[in-house]
Amino acid sequence: MIEVDLNVASLPLDWDELFSRKAPVDIEIGSGKGAFLLDLAIRQPDHNYLAVERAPKYHNLTCQRAGRRGVTNVRLLQTTAEDLLNRLVRPETVERLFVLFPDPWPKKRHHKRRFFTPENVATLSSVLVPGGLLYVKSDHPEYSDVIEASLRTCADLEPIDTTEAFQDLPLTGFERKYIVEGRMIRAFALKKRGS
Ligand SMILES: C[S@@+](CC[C@H](N)C(=O)[O-])C[C@H]1O[C@@H](n2cnc3c(N)ncnc32)[C@H](O)[C@@H]1O
Repeated sequence: MIEVDLNVASLPLDWDELFSRKAPVDIEIGSGKGAFLLDLAIRQPDHNYLAVERAPKYHNLTCQRAGRRGVTNVRLLQTTAEDLLNRLVRPETVERLFVLFPDPWPKKRHHKRRFFTPENVATLSSVLVPGGLLYVKSDHPEYSDVIEASLRTCADLEPIDTTEAFQDLPLTGFERKYIVEGRMIRAFALKKRGS
């Protein structure tokens, strides 16, 4: 089954059981309509991919697309990033984490809804294997500064060259739109120390 049923799956998630094979596990948080993850799963079939999306509408659309494309190395979960990180994933079991164009919540009264905080960055780092990679992009200048500051608070995460890190990765759905609109995009790539 491509769609993960938390009533049936072992918790915390057991990757070998979930994917019915042993392979490095990558997770995309806030996968939207799934363009990035599905392209990546086809381009780099030697990894297992889990997409987590809060919005049922986008999650369901991605399920349909994944079915049409016949991918076998993808699992899709409708829940929040916070639920995933705090309840569902074992520490140090994820090879690559992608958080691409997280909602910027531009109004000041909504800033508390933003995903990037020092606490959430520490949790992201805790699920990565030593040497694992975190990829982030944003088109929002002020939120990009907040993201950069929160990433800097985590001593376990070391910035690496972004051009090299992103060079073999597909574009996301939002990114394609933003490029056409000429928006400036900031990218961050970090490696967990200890490999
Ligand atoms: C701006 S869109 C970007 C979608 C996709 N990454 C892209 O670049 O095309 C942000 C996505 O993150 C999802 N999202 C926002 N907060 C989330 C959370 N806490 N947990 C999981 N998904 C979330 C939204 O529903 C939305 O689909």
